[in-house]
Amino acid sequence: MTSLTRVDTKLDVLVFAASLRGESLNRKLAELAASIAEHSGANVDLASLRDFDVPLYDGELQESAGIPPGALELQRRLVASDAFIVASPEYNRSMPGAIKNLIDWTSRLRPQPFDGRHGLLLSASPSLAGGNHGLWALRVPFEHLGARIFPDMFSLAKADNAFANGELSDPALRERFKNNVLAFLSLAEAAKHYPCVKRAWVEFLGEPPSENAGAERKERTA
Ligand code: FNR
Repeated sequence: MTSLTRVDTKLDVLVFAASLRGESLNRKLAELAASIAEHSGANVDLASLRDFDVPLYDGELQESAGIPPGALELQRRLVASDAFIVASPEYNRSMPGAIKNLIDWTSRLRPQPFDGRHGLLLSASPSLAGGNHGLWALRVPFEHLGARIFPDMFSLAKADNAFANGELSDPALRERFKNNVLAFLSLAEAAKHYPCVKRAWVEFLGEPPSENAGAERKERTA
């Protein structure tokens, strides 16, 4: 008898914070997102930025030594995932250099692993804007590389006082955060199992829904 239940339906999600600090607020937020994803039934790969350690991008180094192991590791773990969640600090109203440098190295790889992957951006900061400006900057390279960045981004303001017992202490904020993460996962899940939804998303971005859309982008970024 044919079963209508699929056994490979679990979503694989890579989650990491774009901060190296042991006491990183963004790491705490990433861990909360990972826990929500796990409870929703996803397979979560909770990574550290240290797993993706790379030198400063240098075209000559790339020619002489190739792509560094940290970028290959990010490619491997992205390829094994359907979606990714990044919690990034804001530095000087933009993204930290470490994450941009990692994106730059990883973008030289083929297959370029951001292309077509769904991403959710989070930020945490002691400031009142919660690092939200940095996320608008971070969207740019990800979207340029073909990642489908979820429209709703979550920024945690006054993050130095926002956590208690490994949770967000404000119940309303906790609920909003959970709903934001779950809405993202629903879209990523729909794209994984119902490719027609994924095509509709591409059309929404104003790109031709052709088989060659990805290849055209690769040519532009090469
Ligand atoms: C910051 N910080 C910061 N915060 C912010 O909201 N807007 C900003 O533009 C900046 N700029 C900035 C630049 C640099 C170089 C540093 C080191 C810090 C403060 C930052 O949000 C705070 O240190 C966070 O706690 C960093 O994130 P993690 O490491 O806790 O995840």
